Amino acid sequence: MKNVAILGSTGSIGVNALKVIDQMPDDFRVVALSANSNVDLLAKQVKRHKPARVAVFEHDAAKQFKACVNGAVRHLEPGVEGLCEIAASKDVDVVLLSLVGGVGFAPLLTALKAGKIVALANKEPMVMAGEQFMLEADRWGGQILPVDSEPSAMFQCLESRKVKGGLRGYGKHVRRVILTASGGAFYKHKGSLASVTPAAALDHPTWKMGKKITIDCATLMNKGFETIEIMNLFGLTLKQVEIVIHRQSIMHSAVEFNDGSILAQMGVPDMKLPIQYAMTWPDRVCPVVEPLDFVKAGELTFAAPDFRRFPCLALALEAAKAGSSMPAVLNAADEVAVEAFLAGRLKFTDIARVIEGTMKRHRPGARLPSFAEILEVDQWARQKALELL
Ligand SMILES: NC(=O)c1ccc[n+]([C@@H]2O[C@H](COP(=O)([O-])OP(=O)(O)OC[C@H]3O[C@@H](n4cnc5c(N)ncnc54)[C@H](OP(=O)(O)O)[C@@H]3O)[C@@H](O)[C@H]2O)c1
Repeated sequence: MKNVAILGSTGSIGVNALKVIDQMPDDFRVVALSANSNVDLLAKQVKRHKPARVAVFEHDAAKQFKACVNGAVRHLEPGVEGLCEIAASKDVDVVLLSLVGGVGFAPLLTALKAGKIVALANKEPMVMAGEQFMLEADRWGGQILPVDSEPSAMFQCLESRKVKGGLRGYGKHVRRVILTASGGAFYKHKGSLASVTPAAALDHPTWKMGKKITIDCATLMNKGFETIEIMNLFGLTLKQVEIVIHRQSIMHSAVEFNDGSILAQMGVPDMKLPIQYAMTWPDRVCPVVEPLDFVKAGELTFAAPDFRRFPCLALALEAAKAGSSMPAVLNAADEVAVEAFLAGRLKFTDIARVIEGTMKRHRPGARLPSFAEILEVDQWARQKALELL
């Protein structure tokens, strides 16, 4: 029986994680949950899973939640304090980090310092300072296990090989990794993307996810983020990463080893599988998703991404190449631009312009920045992106 804390339990990943837990009541106990402001759903989750602690991030929502949900559950401080208290709690075995955006930075650091296993969906902190988080995990005996389907697929292909240096040791044993991308809502869109609406961008062909990641899929920024995430997780260089458009989302990614042999991980597009694996690792326990019917799946197609039409992907690779604090600038500017697009204040095609403009105004240093320096750059980039809006 593992004790699980879910930070961001009311989101798409959080809800799927609770479905997995529902199907495996003898394997997992929910000890803590958190939300930003969706108190109605959080109240239902608390009633069903009876966690010892809850944290509501937003102050007014926290007050409202405290007034209507009482009993055995302990209410933690709103804001990042409550999230960090959960991340460091003694009784937690696995922290599922399913927050969205840079807000997961401090909880991830806290969980690693407390030596926890972190099942990581919240990729943005890994984009901002992935190498530093991996070093911190080594230092304190913490562990990051990927939940995102593509990094999880690579992890599953790689882990059969025991290598020195933990996850970051895999880079030396790999010729390349094949990072698959669904292509998002507009891969087949004809004509200009300048006037596409948020509603159209949120209509993802295969995955049902939160709004931020769905827009990042439509711009292909999500694939850029994943490139940076896997470079940090597995010690890969940019040259070792090949991005391939695979519309069916059946092959979740693949690894080509030094001898030319390729292992791929496949399955139906359902996040419950990688979520379950990060929580049961290193065991494989029971099926929580439908089996893949190869005949029904039919053709599997692969194509090169169009960098001209999707400039966010090119910007992300530029940031990956620059390294240092540039990925943090990329992430911050993207968060600002995506929020503005969703609010109807920015054209889809201007998302890339805001990010490019912010990146152009930043000079990354030569050495690996500290966490404090990354957070400073993050604030600077958000301000700069807002000015450019
Ligand atoms: N969804 C997927 O299938 C998928 C796949 C791969 C990777 N990921 C990654 O997983 C992460 C979560 O994605 P998602 O799709 O589950 O997002 P989501 O549906 O938007 O859920 C985000 C969760 O975080 C909470 N939250 C949002 N802003 C917060 C803040 N400022 N402070 C505290 N809590 C906050 C939300 O609470 P409220 O509900 O109260 O707003 C919700 O519980 C992202 O980094 C994404 O890139 C997602």
